[in-house]
Amino acid sequence: MAIKICKMNLMHLNEISSKLKEEFDEFWNRNVLEDELKNPNSKYIVALENEQVVGYAGIWSVLDEAHITNIVVKKDYRNKKIGTMLLEELIKIAKSEKIRILTLEVNINNNIAINLYKKYNFKEVGKRKNYYNGVDDAILMTLELLK
Ligand SMILES: CC(C)(COP(=O)(O)OP(=O)(O)OC[C@H]1O[C@@H](n2cnc3c(N)ncnc32)[C@H](O)[C@@H]1OP(=O)(O)O)[C@@H](O)C(=O)NCCC(=O)NCCS
Repeated sequence: MAIKICKMNLMHLNEISSKLKEEFDEFWNRNVLEDELKNPNSKYIVALENEQVVGYAGIWSVLDEAHITNIVVKKDYRNKKIGTMLLEELIKIAKSEKIRILTLEVNINNNIAINLYKKYNFKEVGKRKNYYNGVDDAILMTLELLK
């Protein structure tokens, strides 16, 4: 499986729009992602296999801090290191922009994602109670890139 990572464009978004719920996970809808592509503070990337989008991820930055907004792999492509590739690329982008700290929120029950972030040395720094749909708590995690 040859996976290529590149910048997300409108064509990629058009390709995945109708599949966001079924084949990825409905984190954000198309309109929000389209706005993100126009936002100069946001950087979105896709993972492509044979030019088909099999994952996407993004960060939103302010000054020297960046927040990981999304990292999603197509359901039948999970557990093949594509999430790892996307996260590594986000970290690379953040470092190239002299970001000091990367932050994110993750559902306390999302062990797969928590494992992925811990592998890259993200540390748990707090919790937001009932953050997801007023039910599940979010864990706040950060990774210091420059000391
Ligand atoms: C989280 C997600 C992006 C991971 O992507 P992925 O391509 O499946 O993950 P990878 O194959 O790169 O695995 C990375 C690490 O995640 C963890 N992991 C992956 N699958 C796992 C599983 N089934 N059980 C436990 N941990 C798992 C492991 O730590 C793994 O590293 P290792 O293989 O060296 O042990 C993917 O599962 C996904 O899209 N989930 C739904 C969206 C989501 O929850 N995003 C995170 C929002 S904060």
